[in-house]
Amino acid sequence: MSADAMKAAARARSNIALVKYWGKAPGKLNVPAVGSISITLDALWSDTELIFDPAFAADEFMLDGKHRPDQLARISACLDILRDLAGIGARAAVVSRNNFPTGAGLASSASGFAALVSAAARALGLELAPRELSIVARRGSGSAARSIFGGFVEMRAGSAADGRDSYAEPLLAAAEWPLDVVVAVTATGEKEVASGSGMMRCAQSSPFYPAWLETHPADMALCREAIRSRDFEALAEIAEASCFKMHAAAMATRPALIYWNGVTLECIGRIRQLRKSGVPVFFTVDAGPQVKAVCAPGARGAVREALAELPGVVRIIESSLGPGVETRECNS
Ligand code: PMV
Repeated sequence: MSADAMKAAARARSNIALVKYWGKAPGKLNVPAVGSISITLDALWSDTELIFDPAFAADEFMLDGKHRPDQLARISACLDILRDLAGIGARAAVVSRNNFPTGAGLASSASGFAALVSAAARALGLELAPRELSIVARRGSGSAARSIFGGFVEMRAGSAADGRDSYAEPLLAAAEWPLDVVVAVTATGEKEVASGSGMMRCAQSSPFYPAWLETHPADMALCREAIRSRDFEALAEIAEASCFKMHAAAMATRPALIYWNGVTLECIGRIRQLRKSGVPVFFTVDAGPQVKAVCAPGARGAVREALAELPGVVRIIESSLGPGVETRECNS
């Protein structure tokens, strides 16, 4: 390593959307077609260490101990934005680890890109506001813009041609409404259709995509209000509706995008039964088969037990709500 190498590290948490992002605006800036509202999870994170070194010939990326050249185009595009801002051309070696399954609908791209851009900005000595980091993280993955912040977070779709008003911002800190999340992992391994290409295909061929776009702003307003007033029942109602609507639009894509398996549906049924019987819990599912049960902290044990006993649930991950991205010096 050269004497003028620049290093830093970051930890960013994964997040799950309560009102979903699904669909992109035209153009190459990865601007979402709709806003979204998410919660950041404390227990699922990406740890990223990064070195810029003028002696490196090209960017390199290792994830969970394996070289991942397939991810380099998106990573280098984010790094290029920051290199341009810093006026530095050095290539980078990026080493990242997830403490949860990658690419299986647990938002590893969200935590991954939030950690990447935060570590890179710090290594380059750029003092960017969280909003600026959120804009750069968005270029890697739409949901990554939200993982810059903790607690409840809103992503604004924005309308500027250069994407400068397409960023996330905090709505409520984790401590202001402490909810828990119990994730039922129903399959391991990476999903067949990545969310990015899934949403493009959906926009092109699903007859329900226009309805998704049209009804989305009302869902955002209901969700914002449920969070503002800490109304669990209202949050449950709108989050499940947004999830079903996104998956309905996806399933009507040609060819169909079915991210669920049979166990996903079993978990959804069990969670809805629990809520009917008075347990404060609701579900959401992203572009993969895992089911995330969001509950009031006192209900966590009951939710965990009910999901763990379902045949086909291979693992349970539990989390409370977590903070935004954290960066540090890196001496390795
Ligand atoms: O950030 P991406 O491009 O992986 O897309 C995320 C899409 C969903 O997870 C399905 C919904 C969301 O808002 O996180």
